[in-house]
Amino acid sequence: MSKTQRKDEGFRSISPAEFFYRNRQMAGFGNPTQAVYSTVRELVENSLDACEDAQRLPKIRVDIESSLSDTLTVTVADNGTGVPYDQVPEAFGRVLYGSKYDRRQRRGSFGLGVTMAVLHGQITTDSPVLVHTRDDKSSGMSYNILVDIEQNVPVVEEEQVRYRDHEGTTVSIRLRGDLRRAQERVLEYLRLTTVASPHARLRLVIDDSLDMTIGGLVDTVPALPVPSKPHPRAADVELLRKLIEKSEHKGLRSFLIDSFQQVGGRSASRLLRFMGLHPDTEVKALNREELSLLGTVLRSFDGFGRPDSRSLSPVGQDDFHKSVESTFNASLVRFAGRGPSEWEGNVFMLEGVVCYGDEFPAADIPSMYRFANRVPLLYDASECVLMKTLKRVNWSRYGARGSQPAALFIHFCSTKVPYKAAGKQSIAHLPQIEEEALALYRKLGRALNMFVKKKERSSRERKKIRDFSKMFNLMARYGAALAGYDNAPSTSHMVRRLFEGDVDV
Ligand SMILES: Nc1ncnc2c1ncn2[C@@H]1O[C@H](COP(=O)(O)OP(=O)(O)O)[C@@H](O)[C@H]1O
Ligand SMILES: [Mg+2]
Repeated sequence: MSKTQRKDEGFRSISPAEFFYRNRQMAGFGNPTQAVYSTVRELVENSLDACEDAQRLPKIRVDIESSLSDTLTVTVADNGTGVPYDQVPEAFGRVLYGSKYDRRQRRGSFGLGVTMAVLHGQITTDSPVLVHTRDDKSSGMSYNILVDIEQNVPVVEEEQVRYRDHEGTTVSIRLRGDLRRAQERVLEYLRLTTVASPHARLRLVIDDSLDMTIGGLVDTVPALPVPSKPHPRAADVELLRKLIEKSEHKGLRSFLIDSFQQVGGRSASRLLRFMGLHPDTEVKALNREELSLLGTVLRSFDGFGRPDSRSLSPVGQDDFHKSVESTFNASLVRFAGRGPSEWEGNVFMLEGVVCYGDEFPAADIPSMYRFANRVPLLYDASECVLMKTLKRVNWSRYGARGSQPAALFIHFCSTKVPYKAAGKQSIAHLPQIEEEALALYRKLGRALNMFVKKKERSSRERKKIRDFSKMFNLMARYGAALAGYDNAPSTSHMVRRLFEGDVDV
């Protein structure tokens, strides 16, 4: 064997399925507790997305059966769109395959979640995923699917016509996991899910030990976010190449207007004049340098509007108020929002509420509940830009005290959430997001401060009233005794008149 041959040994490529099989912790399947939580989370997220696509109020049932101490079956059933039959094998048996790669707010994004859960189930219990689905075209099909890890292709073990009484999907995964430890997390996840998706009704059944229904706090389905074209600030050479390939326009000016959002006739002409290019320059004839320059200018040109926020679905003031108030039995709930803004051409908004409640721990800094695209984020808080920024605010200036347990609920929504890892638990540190988060915290801080001041003022007033009442009573008693009356007259009307309008007497 020659030296060169030996050097080549060991080189090969692996499939995405094998990559995630080897690096399960990256996608949130690193230990038996996380595996249970992530399986529930991925299935519930898909169900919620499918119900919103169908524009129906989600009714989702989560069943957890623990057959052996370390083996359980998670089944999630929804009333969503169902999955087109020809897509079922790939959607559940192929890593990085999905229908949510367009530019609008969705819970899922990578085409990874459910297949990771399927993969984990397969590796730990050697069982296929069971999918029973019905779309609007027929009456039901069921499938047993495994993943061929080496090739990243689905293996359909069984496929049969099976009636389902309404549209939607039921997915069942058997896995090894630690339910005892995961149960609290699963409950918290579902409860917080109904905070950010108050229109969803979730029922959780665990063996014979638990059967509870939560959510259904509002009865309107949020409007479906509209997929948007890319914003010019997202233009890199790769995107330009793809858009040019797809475009029917030959001239540069009409290509720009048609392919990007926020580019109108005037801004396109200004940009081309600035670059010294003719509006009819043929796009397909642009060379590498010209493309790269076009990308740079598109990204830095300041004549374009902000990205379209119709591709977002924020919770909104009324629903956020309602859901936090009723889920946490909280008092004072104040809402604030920021945006729309953008990071690298992706539109985003931040919204949040601040509140008080006995359920929150008393600390000098309010506790924080994080959400991204309506999904609660429960792990890796210290890595997240929302948490890091929270610590930059001087909360004592806003009246936060250890004695008054306050909490913030912060929702980041975007056409693309810059997650730090495939497990989708923390948001990356980007200056635009940090700046907006800081501004949001200050707004919420001011609301908190006003409340604290008002409360302090009213408790001072109340003390004064108590003192005056005592004094008047004493005077009335002495006066009555001097005048020879047995009973002293009531003095409460005097106190009321004195403090009228200030505070409830
Ligand atoms: N309950 C469901 N209802 C409808 N479609 C589903 C459901 N679960 C999964 N899918 C489809 O399977 C695809 C792959 O799911 P997943 O691996 O979780 O990726 P993602 O949600 O990030 O797209 C989804 O994009 C969706 O089209
Ligand atoms: Mg998903």
